[in-house]
Amino acid sequence: MKTKKLIIGNWKMYPASLKDAKAKFTAIKKTAGKLVNVQTVICPPLVYVSELKKLVSGHRVVIGAQNAWFESEGAFTGEVSIAMLASVGAQYVIVGHSERRAMGESDELINKKVLAGVKAGIIVVLCVGERDRDPDGVYLKFITEQIKEALHGVQKKELKKIVIAYEPIWAIGKNAIHPSSPDDALEVSILIKRTLADLYGKDSSVIQVLYGGSVDAKNAWEFLLKSQVNGLLVGRASLDAKVFGEILKSADQIK
Ligand code: PGA
Repeated sequence: MKTKKLIIGNWKMYPASLKDAKAKFTAIKKTAGKLVNVQTVICPPLVYVSELKKLVSGHRVVIGAQNAWFESEGAFTGEVSIAMLASVGAQYVIVGHSERRAMGESDELINKKVLAGVKAGIIVVLCVGERDRDPDGVYLKFITEQIKEALHGVQKKELKKIVIAYEPIWAIGKNAIHPSSPDDALEVSILIKRTLADLYGKDSSVIQVLYGGSVDAKNAWEFLLKSQVNGLLVGRASLDAKVFGEILKSADQIK
């Protein structure tokens, strides 16, 4: 069976109003709704999740969240649980994004969130990636450990609920040191698949691996074609419906 390309837009803390968020989502849906070879997921700020969910029609473009808390309910002022997100129709949740890790999220906390996501029946998009690349390849070990710690306790039968996004921190956002090349991403996508195979054997092949970090309309096809990834996690470029539409269309054309 042919797997659709999975293209996830991480809107971060944009846009500033619900009105703009609805307009962007509607514009993206126009393109995404036509593409048969792409599964599009938009992860808006939490407060827009249920409103944008109302604009969803069909399955080609769905809603996810950028973060959540692992307990299903309780005295956790200011937090929203994965179970709550699932109850308002979010189908994906990003866990362990480097911007969350930079705010203090540990591998242990990320593991709890992964387990909670799987339990809630939501698809967990686990982000991993190194801050820098060193000539001795210590970063490869670092990424392997991030994966092992985050997936601790996840059972084979739950693997279809896991997606892994490789996002090298040095290639993310407008302060990116330089963009990653498809070869950089290929090296790590192979490492991720090997790590997953060590952990779970051939059952691990259901886990989709994505690339993220300065993806735009010009380089998206190259990552998809050359890096052995099944999709992309897109930040800035997902906020521009035209640019994101180009990314989605190039993904749709790749066989
Ligand atoms: P970027 O962000 O595409 O703006 O580099 C990617 C991400 O942080 O998920």
